[in-house]
Amino acid sequence: MLNYKEYLSYNKTMKVNDEFIVKIEKITNLGAGIAKIDGFVVFIENTCPEDKVKIKITKVNKNFANAQVIEIIEPSKHRVKPFCPMQKVCGACQLQFIDYDYQLKIKHQITEETIRTISGLDTPILPTIASPEIKNYRRKIQYPISQTKNSGRILAGYYKPKSHEIVNIKYCPIQPEICDRIIEFIREKSFDYGIQGFNEKKHTGDLRHVVIRNSALTGKNLVVLVVNATKSFDRLNDFAKAIYNEFEEVSGVSLNFNSKKTNVILGQKSESIIGEDFVKEQLIDKTFKIGANTFFQINPKSAENIFKYVKNYIKNNYEEPIILDAYAGITTFGICISDVCKKVVSVEENKESCEMAREVVKENNITNVEIHNMDAGKFFAKEKRRFDAIILDPPRKGCTLESLDEAFRLSKKDIIYVSCNPATLARDLKYLTEKGCTVETIQPFDMFCHTYHIENVAIIHKPTIS
Ligand SMILES: C[S@@+](CC[C@H](N)C(=O)[O-])C[C@H]1O[C@@H](n2cnc3c(N)ncnc32)[C@H](O)[C@@H]1O
Repeated sequence: MLNYKEYLSYNKTMKVNDEFIVKIEKITNLGAGIAKIDGFVVFIENTCPEDKVKIKITKVNKNFANAQVIEIIEPSKHRVKPFCPMQKVCGACQLQFIDYDYQLKIKHQITEETIRTISGLDTPILPTIASPEIKNYRRKIQYPISQTKNSGRILAGYYKPKSHEIVNIKYCPIQPEICDRIIEFIREKSFDYGIQGFNEKKHTGDLRHVVIRNSALTGKNLVVLVVNATKSFDRLNDFAKAIYNEFEEVSGVSLNFNSKKTNVILGQKSESIIGEDFVKEQLIDKTFKIGANTFFQINPKSAENIFKYVKNYIKNNYEEPIILDAYAGITTFGICISDVCKKVVSVEENKESCEMAREVVKENNITNVEIHNMDAGKFFAKEKRRFDAIILDPPRKGCTLESLDEAFRLSKKDIIYVSCNPATLARDLKYLTEKGCTVETIQPFDMFCHTYHIENVAIIHKPTIS
């Protein structure tokens, strides 16, 4: 095997199908291993730091190449046997072949590198806090549905990596076992009710997705059938009732209507067909209701660690503060921290989440939480009050510059930034520090075990005026 310089003197340039032996140095924020061939970066999926592997180049770009493993010559000491037999084909748990403690270290390293590279900050990154459960932790399941060409058998599972081909998953050890049984029933019985799987290309068929919300508190499940229709019809209603009658663990079945040509899973409108249209969940000492279209963290036990962390920070640093909870979902942060605050104001754009939040506030006898159903940016711009601290928990794309400017204006002291994307967190921290803020710490949490996803909480102080 030639080294890259020797190789170049023969071949002038790296080409697809060329083979090399490399050692994996680290993992990127998208879960691929990185090796360097005389300084030239190659990304190789399904590898672990310290693996020595023989690779075949699959794509060559100007500054990097992609490759696949053709042989593991010396496995890393951190490799373990994946507990899921489908790990290689499914694509949902990219890191499951790496031991869990090392996964936590990798997530710390990814956070650190992303923050340092994008923001230039040397903020301490604390060790990743593990998830209390690393199997059966995923309590929201969203399976795309299709059917086989000839026999019309229903297929339900996750997409293969980088494709829209469904892996027909019968057993998934990261979700509660009851979810597998509900999906199996749907797979087996939909034909009897004349329900067809969705054909994405032709935009035909009935059932597009099955979404299940499982409660860690009660073990109950809300089943949502996402259908290619604008209103319910008898076959669908009968099928929904059959699912409900089959399982005592199913507390309700709803339909969600989505007939658009879109990759967005849920449509705007849902209808409860039988039973309840929510499940109950508990975070710290508060009880929440989660519906078809409400945002709720998929790993509530790990999420609870984040809520406790933020609550402790507020309790230890403020007396009777007024806090703004922005991008609030069902006001999860606001409700969890309400008993250490004078007042909490929350803002969230999703109507159903706000309605659910109002119910939850009432049921927990909370009187100091004010809920606004609005775009966060618009709310910030019109708000006259100032807040002791602001919690920002935006989607993966992070905040807009305008929202950061407004959060900076509205906060008297701190911004607590909760992020599910280290890259946009780093970008937004850079912007805030350029305005004079300092970042005290960044705490990674593992909510999505065995995947490359990381949740972080950054504690940001506004400049003090002397
Ligand atoms: C990462 S989730 C956080 C939810 C909540 N803090 C929690 O932990 O459950 C982001 C939330 O921001 C909401 N959202 C997204 N863009 C928004 C915007 N421009 N204004 C207000 N809310 C927004 C989404 O609907 C979603 O509920």
